[in-house]
This record gives sequence, C-alpha cells and structure tokens, in this order.
Amino acid sequence: MSLAERIISRDARVGIIGMGYVGLPLAVAVAGAGFRVTGIDVDKAKVSSINEGRSYIPDIDSTLVDSAVKDGLFEATAEFSVLKEMDIISICVPTPLSEMHEPDISYIRAATNEIAKYLRPGQMVILESTTYPGTTDEVILPILEESGLTVGEGFYLGFSPERVDPGNKNFGIGNTPKVVGGVTGACTDLASSFYSQFVRMVVPVSSTKAAEMTKLLENIFRCVNIALVNELMLLCDRMDIDIWEVVEAASSKPFGFMPFFPGPGLGGHCIPIDPFYLSWKARQYDFHTEFIELAGKMNESIPYYVVTKIGDALNSHEKSIKGSNVLILGLAYKKDIGDTRESPAIKIISLLEKKGANVSYHDPFAERVIIETKTYASVELTPDSVSASDCVVVVTDHTDVDYEMIADSARLVVDTRNRMKHFAGNHIVHI
Ligand SMILES: NC(=O)c1ccc[n+]([C@@H]2O[C@H](COP(=O)([O-])OP(=O)(O)OC[C@H]3O[C@@H](n4cnc5c(N)ncnc54)[C@H](O)[C@@H]3O)[C@@H](O)[C@H]2O)c1
Repeated sequence: MSLAERIISRDARVGIIGMGYVGLPLAVAVAGAGFRVTGIDVDKAKVSSINEGRSYIPDIDSTLVDSAVKDGLFEATAEFSVLKEMDIISICVPTPLSEMHEPDISYIRAATNEIAKYLRPGQMVILESTTYPGTTDEVILPILEESGLTVGEGFYLGFSPERVDPGNKNFGIGNTPKVVGGVTGACTDLASSFYSQFVRMVVPVSSTKAAEMTKLLENIFRCVNIALVNELMLLCDRMDIDIWEVVEAASSKPFGFMPFFPGPGLGGHCIPIDPFYLSWKARQYDFHTEFIELAGKMNESIPYYVVTKIGDALNSHEKSIKGSNVLILGLAYKKDIGDTRESPAIKIISLLEKKGANVSYHDPFAERVIIETKTYASVELTPDSVSASDCVVVVTDHTDVDYEMIADSARLVVDTRNRMKHFAGNHIVHI
C-alpha cells in the first residue's frame, strides 16, 4: 500500500518526536482519528507518564491519554529505533534562543540526525517546531538526502506550523486551520491529506519557507501590536488618560481595528522568542527587521514600568518598596494555564527582590517556582494573607480567584490587567 493509501485507511503509523505542549496534544488528536501513534521523547518521566495514561499538560485530560493508550493507539518511548517502523514522523522539539539571542536549532538537528539513521523509502517527515524560513530546506533536507533517497519520490518532507493556543476553550487542533508547505508538490499533497484526517481545514502553501514565514508573521503581528498598545499605555499614563477605556471604545469600530490590551509584559514560549528567529535570518540578507527590534525593546521595558508603578503606589501610602510585603497574583504568563516560561511575573519578582521587597505569590496553576536560586511556593489566598500584604499586584488574572475578597481585604492593589475595574476605591490603581 502506498503512503497515500495508508493515510486514507489510517494504517499509517505516526511517530512524534517531542512530547511537550505541542507534541502531546498532537499525538492525542492523531490517535483520536484512529492512527497508531508513538511519542518519542528524551525525557523518560514524560514517556512513563504517557504509558501510565497520565497527562502532564493542563489542556489535555488524562482520560484522553489513558483511553488512547488502552485502545493500543498511543504509546511512548525514548528509543529512536522505533522510527524505522513509522510512516509519518513529526518533529515537535523546542526552538529556544541561545544566550546571545540567536536561534538554537540544535534540538531540530538532533531529531533529524536520529530520523536520518532510520530513514527508509516512503516515509514522510514534517517539522512543526517554530523556526526561521529556510530551516526545512536548508537544514533538514540536506541531512535526510545523505541517505541517497530523493525528496518527493523516495521520501517526503514538509513544514506545518503548530498554532495551538494554550488554555483556549474554543479553538483546538481540530478546528484551527493547518498551514502546510512541502518541499515538492507531492510532499504538500501527502502532508495535506494526513492533516485533513483530523483537522477541519488545511491551507496548502507553495513552499516550506512560505509556511515557516506564515507562523512568524502571526506571532510578530501579536508582538508588534502588543508593543504598540503598551507604548500608548505609557503615554496615556503621563497624559492621565485611561488606556483601557480607549481600547474598549476603539473596539466598537466594526472594521479595520482589532483590540490588543496592555499588560505586564510579554510571556510564554513563543511571542517573546519567535520574532528573533526572523530578525537573525534577515541579517543574512542585509535586512534589519526594525519593527521586531523596536517591539522587543518596548515589551521588555514593561516589567520595569510595572515596578515603578508599584513603587509610586506604595509611596502614596508612605511606604517604600524596600521592606514592603508584596503579593503577586498570577505567575503564569497568561490566564488559566500553568506555564511560567518567560513570564513577566518572574521579571517583576526579581526586580522587586533586588529593591528589597519581601515577595510572595499566589497562582492556582503554579505551585512552586525557582527565581534566581530562591524557591517560592504559592501562598494560600485568604483575607488574612491579602491584608498582611502592603501591596497586591494582579499580574495574571486567572479566573478562579476571588477578586471581590481582594478588593475588600487589600490595603493597596496594582492591577496590570484591568481585572479590578468593577471594584471601587482609591486603594486600587491600574497600569
Ligand atoms: N507551547 C506552545 O504553545 C507552542 C505553540 C506553537 C508552536 N510552538 C513551538 O513548538 C515547538 C515545541 O514547543 P513546546 O512548547 O511543545 O516545547 P516543550 O519544551 O513543551 O516540549 C518539547 C519536548 O521535546 C523534548 N525533546 C527535546 N529534544 C528532543 C530530542 N532530541 N528528541 C526527542 N525529544 C526531545 C523535550 O524533552 C520536551 O518534552 C517549539 O518550536 C515551539 O516554539 C509551541
């Protein structure tokens, strides 16, 4: 049977390298469509967890993993030799920035080297990790071609960006259109056929570079617009205009405007990192992506502004940051998830500590965190713990928090999300 037929009949075996925030939900969706999926990860704790039917990603219910495992459709391993049995191999490994703020594609290279060891005729490889345009064609393809097989005939290769939005209850893998770009037309067709087995709409594009650039455009669009509204927030603060009121009023325009909201700064594994993959690549073309650099500069400055705002608020209560008890609400980078990677709360806490504050935090999704060698554990949120604080700072507005109690019990609140807008009192200030 050809790969095209094995996809339609769901006999194709699917291997997913990297069982993190992207790989695990993908595995569950692919198994849900009836394919046999093998997750491959170097992290043995994740491998054991999957094989025991336990999810470690908040968006994925353990019952989904458990039933896929029990149905014989999902298993995990740390052994790459299983790759030889796979028909389709998806790469979902991390793409961080190096210390010098340059793309670190070593995880993609490591995964590709493993695939190359076992590559056989008829296999398809799809990269899902976010990266700069050219990675699939310039980095992965040459490694796989060392096998002597020809792309588009002997094996197939493409790029399809993951668009998962953690915590989003309305959009998941099945109803978020999937952009697909293959190295050749045959690669695009096969990859599109595969994704259309479990995604409602597939959007084929003419090349892997176009698909890679599409993902970056989406994230840069968010990064730049967040920077823009944050800049206007700084100006509105000086001009004594309420930025939240302005964004809400502008949102009444039914066309040509899309609201972005100010906040404590950028966070997460994507928006603060991905744009710099493009600015790095652009330099090879003697091109400077100035919007990206400018947006990065603006967004990076916002946690410093929040700390200034906390200092001003304490000052109006005749207190200094030094020696004050500051309670941070919400450590994760966005509401209702537990992901603290690149979270602005971490920066705010470390800046406050450096200025001599006693900082604690509450986050129903993040029990413990280490910031610059100090371990913090989430404190219980009670009228006593709130009133014992000189200042409560709403950094991330998780749904499951009693904001009315905070308004009633806190001596001072600095709100970076406008979550306290319905509660009155001079003790509540917002950015
Ligand atoms: N998290 C998101 O919301 C999101 C959304 C869209 C795109 N992305 C992109 O998807 C990619 C993966 O992100 P993530 O959030 O899932 O990362 P993650 O850190 O949650 O998961 C990556 C997994 O890969 C494993 N891994 C690392 N090297 C490996 C190797 N050589 N072989 C096998 N496994 C290996 C790690 O142990 C980890 O379990 C990144 O490029 C990211 O930018 C992430």
